[in-house]
Order: sequence, then C-alpha cells, then structure tokens
Amino acid sequence: DLTVGLVGWRGMVGSVLMQRMLEENDFAGITPVFFSTSNAGGAAPSFEGIKTGELKDAHDIKALADCDVIITCQGGDYTKKVHQPLRDSGWNGYWVDAASTLRMENDSIIILDPVNRNVIDDALAAGKKDFIGGNCTVSLMLMAIGELFNRGWVEWVSAMTYQAASGSGANNMRELISGMGVLRDVVADELADPASAILDIDKKIAETQRSGDFPTQYFGVPLAGSLIPYIDSQLENHQSREEWKGGVETNKILGNSGADTIAIDGMCVRVGAMRCHAQGLTIKLKKDIPLADIEAALKDSGNQWLDVVEDTKEATVERLTPVAVTGTLTVALGRLRKLNMGGEYLGAFTVGDQLLWGAAEPLRRMLNIIRE
Ligand code: HSE
Repeated sequence: DLTVGLVGWRGMVGSVLMQRMLEENDFAGITPVFFSTSNAGGAAPSFEGIKTGELKDAHDIKALADCDVIITCQGGDYTKKVHQPLRDSGWNGYWVDAASTLRMENDSIIILDPVNRNVIDDALAAGKKDFIGGNCTVSLMLMAIGELFNRGWVEWVSAMTYQAASGSGANNMRELISGMGVLRDVVADELADPASAILDIDKKIAETQRSGDFPTQYFGVPLAGSLIPYIDSQLENHQSREEWKGGVETNKILGNSGADTIAIDGMCVRVGAMRCHAQGLTIKLKKDIPLADIEAALKDSGNQWLDVVEDTKEATVERLTPVAVTGTLTVALGRLRKLNMGGEYLGAFTVGDQLLWGAAEPLRRMLNIIRE
C-alpha cells in the first residue's frame, strides 16, 4: 500500500480533487494521510468506507516524510516553505503539486498525461520525483489541440483567453455573483416594467459599477457586467505572467527546447464565467493542411475527453460554452475553420473546466501512474 499524504484537500481545487478521487475509487489500495495547516490533531474528513483518522500537521517534516507520495493543493506559499526542507531531510518520495512554484524547475515535470505521457514516463524512468500540474489555461489548450502539436503541424499559436472567476479563487467567484446581484437589484423596478427606458437602466448600472460600494475587494475592479484584460502580475516585457506561462509551460509540457520552441502568446482576459476557461485560438500551421485532415486527426487522437464541435451555429451555441461544459471532463473544441489570412491559418475556439483538467484531474491521474 502506498501512503499518500494529502495537503490542501479542503480548498476549492482540493475539494474537486477529493470528489474525483472518490468517484474513481482512487482511495482503494492506498493509505491516505490527511494534513492540515491549521487543525492538526482534529478529525480528518470522513468519506464513506475510508479510514482517515486524525489530521497531521502539514508543517511537520517528519510526518510528511512518512509518505510515499504527497499531493498538495495548498498553494505556492506552502510549497515554498515545505518542499525544500522536506527534500533536504532526505525524503525521496513523489511530490505532486497543483501550485506553480516548482513548475519551471529543471527537476520538475509538468503533468498532463493525455498529452505528455511519454515525457512523464521518461522522467519516472530517470528517477524524477517532482510532478507539477500545469497552468489551467495551458492544460486546457493542450487538451484541445495537443494532437496538432504532436503531429508537428504547428508553427505558432495566438491565444486570446476568456478566463473564469474560479481561476482567481473561491472568494472571487462569490464576488462575481454578488456583483451580478447588486446590478440586478439596483434596477429591479425598471426591469419589472417593460416600458422603462433601457438607457436609464444602463446609466444606473454604470453608476453602480463605478460607485465605491460595488463589490471589488478580491478582483480590485468590477467584473460583473465588465471584463478585466489582465491576469496575474506584470512582467518587464509587458506580458502578464499568465501570458508568459502560455509559452514556457506549453513548450515544457511538450518537451520542446532550443530550436524546437514554438512561439505562443496572446492576451489573457478575465470574464464573468464561473469555472470554465475559454480561448480563441489563431494557429499558424507549418503548411496548408486540409481542414478535413485536421478534424480527422483530432477525432482519431484517442483523446476521449475531446468534443470536436462541428462549425455550425446550432452546435456551437449548444456545446461550445462554459454553461455546456462546466462540471464535466469534456473539453470542447470548435469554430475550426481556415481564416482569411490564408490556408495556413486555422481558427479555433475551446472551452474547458479549469478546476478539473485545469487543476485537479492531472494530479489524481499522476497518482495512478505512480501506482502502475
Ligand atoms: N492562473 C489561472 C487563472 C488559474 O488565473 O485563471 C490557475 O492556473
């Protein structure tokens, strides 16, 4: 039996991870040890049929070192504090982490096994022990168009994103909904009266969004009824850190370096969706590959989670939206068409749940790969 330490299981990503592990019966044949940063000695969460015992202290290096595998969704500060001392203590177990802290380290592998199982297998054979989940936007883009990279068809990609509130955290999701409620409430009377003037409603909405009372504690500015074209911190080259990750992480996941590096860039934008990230992609192909071949390649790729949506309005509005995809492992990819720029320019749009493939799912799958 592998002893598997679980840290950060109570937060949003951790809760999704627990849910998925229960659904897939991942607790069978492992000994889970639940850690807490605040409640050591308390009762571990109770799941039917699973012995969970007492919470251990997530900062107790000795207790952590008793685990064969540690899976953490506790966040980057925790990783910074604990990972190195744990390794320095001589621990040689597997560290499986959702946070970005270690992602770009030489000794780390970014895990997205439906796309880079070969990279993961090589790393395991080479004795690597740090396996880190990718940035959600990157992982979802690769779940959608990974096959095009694998076939060597892609010269560069521009990704324009529409990222959900969940990427910023649970409080941000609450703030989005609160903002929506405030907007609705402030014009409730006018909405109830079909004869009221829409421009009066609009004016009140804008005044409310701009007022000091509007809920902006977590996003800093209003999101409800607006958007925020900046995600994460600003880098010196004026990319946002989220945009930078798109390039460096995609290439690392694919195992590209040096002259093989593929240029990936774009604009990352926060929109008022709950937990599905969407992306509008412009893909520069290395040559003019017929659309039918591209669609066939995507459908034959063996990616059982990919829904290739035919490029009709009906199918698109039914299946290629956050509302259609949320809470599922399906990654929808549609609007596939050659753009007016020429036969080498492929347009595409993709939607995926950023808490599932974007965060929790690759972690639980890594545990199962380690157990194989
Ligand atoms: N950085 C992502 C976002 C989420 O803000 O949407 C985590 O990968």
